[in-house]
Parts: sequence; structure tokens; C-alpha cells
Amino acid sequence: MDDIFEKVLETKEFLGKITAWENPEVAIILGTGLGDLADQLTPNCVIPYEDVPHFPASTVEGHKGKLIFGTFAGKRVVAMQGRFHYYEGYGLEHVTFPVRVFGAMGAKLLIVNSAAGGLNLSFNSGDVMIVTDHINLLGSNPLRGLTDLRLGDRFPDMGRVYDRECIEEASKAVREIGATLRRGVYVAVAGPSLETPAETRMLRILGGDAVGMSSVPEVITAVQVGFRVLFLAAITNVNNPENMLPISLSQVIQNAKITGRLMGQIMEIAIGRITL
Ligand code: HPA
Repeated sequence: MDDIFEKVLETKEFLGKITAWENPEVAIILGTGLGDLADQLTPNCVIPYEDVPHFPASTVEGHKGKLIFGTFAGKRVVAMQGRFHYYEGYGLEHVTFPVRVFGAMGAKLLIVNSAAGGLNLSFNSGDVMIVTDHINLLGSNPLRGLTDLRLGDRFPDMGRVYDRECIEEASKAVREIGATLRRGVYVAVAGPSLETPAETRMLRILGGDAVGMSSVPEVITAVQVGFRVLFLAAITNVNNPENMLPISLSQVIQNAKITGRLMGQIMEIAIGRITL
């Protein structure tokens, strides 16, 4: 994508005009099967991705492809119902483009969620894991090749990616709801094939608690842009390398939908309390 900065400004201007809406404070990216969380927002303006300049079109089942401006838990939000994945064939600069637009519009907090496979065998399908750190095994980086300092620091520090206050508020919310608190490391892989038993064993040895095919590019970009980040992963299946069970996309979507309800409650409580 040439001149990303100029394209970000064009998209920002377009959205600013058609929403006639005060700048969002919080940007939310809803993952596979988690699009129903958008029903919890009070919408002000809904725009299909195909109408948004420079946005690619989503190609995956379970992803609706709409940008929703509205309010949630007393904050002005913009939510992506459906996201772009590396495995769909997009370049990472396309996958992460919306994050730059939301940053340019003034959003300060990015909340991402994603379906994920559990690597930690104490996890259960249906758990929500609050991501405390990540490992990028995509084999690429969304900042690769970018030299335009108007986009942010070229070598952003990754020592503290996930915001402490957000992790604490989300953890408190989990306890208040009476759910089991799960925190851990998310490993991003390129997909779209799922992991072999040997790969699953490797990811556990590397320190992963959950594995998925998204979010980390958006998070890395968010750090460059200067966002605070909260990442919640819906554990849709648990992968035991000694006894791998077949996983289907429909099962992932179905379990994400179930976990989505819990995720929605956690997000609502946490977003309401986080000071921006
Ligand atoms: N592996 C990778 N991505 C996933 C999985 C998995 O087991 N489950 C949901 N997304």
C-alpha cells in the first residue's frame, strides 16, 4: 500500500464526514464468531466495509464486515464487526490499516478479541483468556518496510504491550461475574491450517497458553500508533498434543458465540471503569 499515511487521512476524513460523530474513545475489533458482541452497542452509524475508502472486503464466514460507531458502557466507540486476516491473503499493512484510522480519529484504547485454541491444558473450551503478552510467529511484521515516521516510531518498544490497568479491570470483572480467571500468552500463527501435534507441543514449550491466527498484527500497529491495548481471547477448543481432537471452523464459531456472552460482560464492566 503506497503512502499509508495519506490513505489513513483520507479514510479518517471520509468517516468523520459521514458519521458526523464525535471522535471515538475506544476502538474494538471483534473476532471470529464474536461479531454478536456488536449487539451490545448503542449504534449511531453503521457503515459496510465496502463503502469505506481503502478498507479491504472481508472474505470469511463468521465475519460480517461492518464498522459501527456508537456508545458502549458510557464510552464513544467504533467497532469492527469482522476483521481482516493474514491468511485471507491480505498484506499486514491492509490487515492493520483500520487501527491507524481509529488512532487518527482520536481513539486511545484498542480492544481486540479473537477465537483461540487453548495450549494450556488447565484451560477449558468456553474460557476467556486475558492476554498478558504475545509471541509473533506469523513470519512477518506489520511494520516491515515502513519508514514514514508520521506513522510512529520505527522500532516501537514491546516491553509492555498490554495495559496494566486494563488487565486489572478485566480480571476484576471476571471475578465479579464468577468466571474462572485465565491469563496468558497468545501465540499468533499465520494459518489457515490448524496445528499438528508437534507444532502444538512446540508452541507450549515456547511459552504459549493459547494460539490463534489474528490480533497480533493489529496490536503491534496499535503500539506504534500509541494505543493502550486490551486483548481478550475466547478459548474455543483445547489442543492436547497427545490426543488431538478434530477442530472445525463451525465448532470454533459456535464456541466463540457461547464465549462471546461472557466476553461481552467482561468488556462492558472493564470499559466502563477504565479511565481514558
Ligand atoms: N489454532 C489456531 N487458531 C485457532 C484455534 C486453534 O486451535 N482455535 C481457534 N482459532
